[in-house]
Amino acid sequence: EKLTFDHKNALGFISEHEIGYLEPQVLSAHTMLHEKSGPGNDFLGWVELPNAYDREEFSRIQKAAAKIRQDSDVLIVVGIGGSYLGARAAIEALCHSFYNMLPKEKRNGPEIYFAGNNISSTYLADLLELVENKEVSVNVISKSGTTTEPAIAFRIIKDFMEKKYGKEGARSRIYATTDKARGALKTLADSEGYEQFVIPDDVGGRFSVLTAVGLLPIAVAGIDIAEMMKGAQDAYVDCKKPYAENHCYRYAAVRNALYRKGKTTEILVNYEPSLHYLTEWWKQLYGESEGKDKKGIFPAGVDFSTDLHSMGQYIQDGLRNIFETVLNVEKCRKSLAMVKTEDDLDKLNYLAGKEMDFVNKMAMKGTILAHVDGEVPNLVINIPEMTPYWFGYLVYFFEKACGISGYLLGVNPFDQPGVEAYKKNMFALLGKPGFEAEKAELEKRL
Ligand code: PA5
Repeated sequence: EKLTFDHKNALGFISEHEIGYLEPQVLSAHTMLHEKSGPGNDFLGWVELPNAYDREEFSRIQKAAAKIRQDSDVLIVVGIGGSYLGARAAIEALCHSFYNMLPKEKRNGPEIYFAGNNISSTYLADLLELVENKEVSVNVISKSGTTTEPAIAFRIIKDFMEKKYGKEGARSRIYATTDKARGALKTLADSEGYEQFVIPDDVGGRFSVLTAVGLLPIAVAGIDIAEMMKGAQDAYVDCKKPYAENHCYRYAAVRNALYRKGKTTEILVNYEPSLHYLTEWWKQLYGESEGKDKKGIFPAGVDFSTDLHSMGQYIQDGLRNIFETVLNVEKCRKSLAMVKTEDDLDKLNYLAGKEMDFVNKMAMKGTILAHVDGEVPNLVINIPEMTPYWFGYLVYFFEKACGISGYLLGVNPFDQPGVEAYKKNMFALLGKPGFEAEKAELEKRL
């Protein structure tokens, strides 16, 4: 069983020789990643992470997860961006579709909710109302330790926990994942005495799902994180292979070849609702890594067949600057067969005895061909099945392709200067000390 990349439905738009011509550039990007000689080389810890991760920290994560699973009905995970999306992607992809709603005895672990990824008071108030009579633990995650959204949510959640459990009780139920030395969260966690997990200095937020950032909440959900790391280890080996047999590098090259022909939007497509947050994670990974210096592929996402009834029209027929990358999960986790009826009033007896997933796969195949006919190149990533192993593999595959792709594009894939602009304005408008001049300027413009 292998994860493979198939670009045959892009060949009407680019040729094999164009992919071949990119080989030297891909190899130079490979060297930049492995020899740490390119821009952003302080943030390449993720490259060796599948083999070089901290085993001691890993077993502390497993212990903390076991304690939370044993003493909590609910885990609230506080974080945003790279400190949020990876864990949510894994939990949604790998757990029961209605995980939080299952009766306790059927759910393999506490309910898991996410906070600090927005500034909605309604959302947070509703969440606290939902959990007020349950046993709660909290994992607050922030690499910088200074991000506004999680900091605001955590201040309120900490107060909630201290009122519920007292100072001492709250302390034993709050886990902080942050930098080893810097930031307000580190200072707070030290002074409160929370158990702490470290985000390595050289792993940026959007590349951190395989650190404590992702692993603790994922383990709390009962997912086998050792299997996930094994998948990433195997991806590490496969994603180092020579160009001709390296599916990851070919994905990076093909999307760049398409971009250079004006296909400036890439739509990640799934046919499993459980992959919605994998797409959100991927959008952050690629959008924040490549969208800079006034260039970059715009990463978008759709959930099919749902969105075939909304965005399908645009994809088939709208502006032709798009290509699709389809996540094809070959084996569904649960199958259902179409039943036969005597009267066949709904005219579906021709499907009787067929697996529902067969219908899903035919929808996928038919859509790919229709979109190719509509001049949308279609790339396919074939994933044997959605297990912890293949999730870990896919994470590493996308991270490596992103690093290669960013270097092909000629950007620093590992910084994010553009996310500061809104923060500066928000601080100024909020009246944060030090932003007085900006506040006056902005208020004139409002
Ligand atoms: O990838 C990134 O660097 C960002 O998306 C961050 O993960 C996000 O802004 C959250 O940052 P922090 O973990 O410092 O709170």
